[in-house]
Amino acid sequence: MILHELLQQPLSQLLQERSYVRDFFAALGITLAAKGQCLAVVIDALPDDQLTEFDLDRAGLLAQFADFVEQMELFKVGAAQPVRQVTIIGGRDKDGRPEEVRLELNAGDVICVVGPTGSGKSHLLADIECLAQGDTPSGRRILLDGQPADESARLAGETRLVAQLSQNMNFVMDLSVEEFIALHAESRLVDDIEGAIEQVFSTAVDLAGEPFTLATPVTSLSGGQSRALMIADVACLSASPIVLIDEIENAGVDRRRALELLVKQEKIVLMATHDPLLALSGHRRLVIRNGGIAAVIETSDEERQGLIQLDILDRKLAELRDQVRQGKRICFELDSFLS
Ligand SMILES: Nc1ncnc2c1ncn2[C@@H]1O[C@H](COP(=O)(O)OP(=O)(O)O)[C@@H](O)[C@H]1O
Ligand SMILES: [Mg+2]
Repeated sequence: MILHELLQQPLSQLLQERSYVRDFFAALGITLAAKGQCLAVVIDALPDDQLTEFDLDRAGLLAQFADFVEQMELFKVGAAQPVRQVTIIGGRDKDGRPEEVRLELNAGDVICVVGPTGSGKSHLLADIECLAQGDTPSGRRILLDGQPADESARLAGETRLVAQLSQNMNFVMDLSVEEFIALHAESRLVDDIEGAIEQVFSTAVDLAGEPFTLATPVTSLSGGQSRALMIADVACLSASPIVLIDEIENAGVDRRRALELLVKQEKIVLMATHDPLLALSGHRRLVIRNGGIAAVIETSDEERQGLIQLDILDRKLAELRDQVRQGKRICFELDSFLS
């Protein structure tokens, strides 16, 4: 939706409001001159061989550009008044039966969304992302600080309220990690760019098991590393008060550390997960069945106690995984392993 608007905007206005657009095209060797025309016209007029040089066709370029815009918009300057509370007002499940809930989520809360595949976890996150007002299949409504979001907030205007960490990060531009963070810090109008780079980088390395450097090209980061970079980025730089995470488990990042980091920033975190370690790290979990929120479970003291053992188990498993990865033979006594 926002992409469509950007493509039709006069270039001069577009580049003034979103200077990162210039950077994107510059990385592909395309200089945008701020004349009266709009981006859609510029892209139409691009010679084919300029695109094939980057292994792209016009549709591919647009898809990459859309991904890039989405990433950059995460770092827009924050709302004057950060959201302190999100309310979910139930709609209906897949069979149209009423979902009788009204849930209040507060800054610093971590809420897990659990349920079988296909039950509607991602749909709930999507409802929050678009600040649904009864206009999605679930009929849910989302309030911010007790009020329905106004249209401008819904249409992703100047400030992003919701940061979504998606499954796969697509890095199109041939940037180093350092340049990548700098670009985000600039669009977030950070004063101390150097400091921001250092903070995001050290956090990301911390979260990713395997080390990388500031000079590493983002396109050669592993799945876990790029995920860690995005989480660090969102935690340290994004102004969005609400963070949505769809299934982080297999990403190869220190999941609990990542969570702690987001909680420290007083964000409202909603996370779809099957991972017991993460599910029990949350304050509450919403159980989704057949498209509706069927139950809300508060994490009990007993579960929190169990988390300590789960953590030990998880670390041992991570060690084993590492040994397998390094081509070592695994030898262990099951008793001592589980004790
Ligand atoms: N309350 C609902 N009403 C109608 N359709 C729904 C509802 N909840 C989920 N769906 C649909 O069910 C499908 C599976 O949901 P999804 O959120 O992808 O599941 P999950 O993430 O748990 O695997 C999607 O097509 C989604 O739009
Ligand atoms: Mg899903």
